[in-house]
Amino acid sequence: MKPVNIAIFASGAGSNARALLSHFSNDPAVRVAVVISNKAGAGVHEVAQEFDVPSVVLGDIGAYESNLIEEMLSSHQVDFIVLAGFLLKVPDSLVQLYANRIINIHPALLPKFGGKGMYGNRVHAAVKAQGETETGITIHYVNEHYDEGAVIFQASCPVAPEDSEDDIRKKVQELEHLHFPAIVSKVVKGEL
Ligand code: GRF
Repeated sequence: MKPVNIAIFASGAGSNARALLSHFSNDPAVRVAVVISNKAGAGVHEVAQEFDVPSVVLGDIGAYESNLIEEMLSSHQVDFIVLAGFLLKVPDSLVQLYANRIINIHPALLPKFGGKGMYGNRVHAAVKAQGETETGITIHYVNEHYDEGAVIFQASCPVAPEDSEDDIRKKVQELEHLHFPAIVSKVVKGEL
């Protein structure tokens, strides 16, 4: 049977992209067809290379001014888009084209600590500043509004008063790497 093709969009180091690539390298039913980043220097390009998956810099293809990104996704026969630390807003046209086929991971328990500008350590700093006793991850569909699409899955971890931002980040990252590939796998196979 033809595998489900996914595209990973990422702007950063790519630890979640690595978890996804590693997971799906052992699953003939799902193939990571392409990795797309808005940053030429992002670590995720090296991660893609390690797994022999082509990676593309979004800026190079003028994604926001044309339909080149849509053509590229179609040339790779991409069925689902997975955002793994992608900092740009996905254009509305793409959200419509891939309705309910774009999945994002957010490093907090949405609807708390979401929205424009809430990414990376800013999220963990806000969690600490608010004195939260727990935080976690949210895996959700992407719609036209930042972090507002339907929730697919959440997992939480405790936050201790003495935890630093970095401690919180590490706990959240552990949850991400543990759950994201498994949940993406279920969604793209229609099991969830
Ligand atoms: C993760 O915390 C993810 O939840 C968020 O961006 C971060 C990406 O980290 N959306 P990495 O590049 O996967 O290491």
